[in-house]
Amino acid sequence: MKNIVILISGRGTNMEAIVRACESERWPARVAAILSNRADAPGLQFAAEHGIPTVVIDHQHYPDRTAFDTAMRDAIDAHAPDLVVLAGFMRILTPAFVDHYAGRMLNIHPSLLPSFPGLRTHRQALDAGVKLHGATVHFVTPELDHGPIVMQGALDVLPGDTPESLAERLLACEHIIYPRAVRWFVENRLRVQDGIVHVHPAEPQWFLALSANAGVAGIPS
Ligand code: GAR
Repeated sequence: MKNIVILISGRGTNMEAIVRACESERWPARVAAILSNRADAPGLQFAAEHGIPTVVIDHQHYPDRTAFDTAMRDAIDAHAPDLVVLAGFMRILTPAFVDHYAGRMLNIHPSLLPSFPGLRTHRQALDAGVKLHGATVHFVTPELDHGPIVMQGALDVLPGDTPESLAERLLACEHIIYPRAVRWFVENRLRVQDGIVHVHPAEPQWFLALSANAGVAGIPS
């Protein structure tokens, strides 16, 4: 049985999708704790309702990133994690913290990395005029929004899309790819070779959420 600790900063819908999939698909794992850097994160309520221990480590109470990350590490390690999952966790992590969880920390980023790291990814995608947008689950490495890619989900950008409409459609896609990637990890099915992540036995590491009138080639059918 593997222990998963999930870090959130807000809504926590990806956390919720992972908790539900872990329960309903009977993963060889349990969500041991949810940690938030904000006491008012709505996701904490879902966790409490599911009997999952919650911890709040408010970054505002620490003098610097190192002190904050040290407090987080102690709180996380109290739950003996096999995997740390960043689910909308909006703090930049110190290299020491990232190194401590090397190979056992995943993140979801709302873009098709390596395009559009950082913030406001949907705005960045629209401004760049991309025709496909998406989300990426990746291992966390010290470089922000980089790291070996476990799975990507993509959707077609529609005429009239706004950052908000893209974010909403993409979230549904995130709720499919993130639980799947976490499940692969807890089932010991991920191998990283030269920075490339493979799943054993092989399965598609991508998911397409194309709109109803898009053909497979993107040409209306
Ligand atoms: C998700 O869209 C996730 O991809 C993004 O924050 C949202 C959290 O939603 N993460 C990042 O931007 C990380 N840089 P949720 O709290 O409902 O899961």
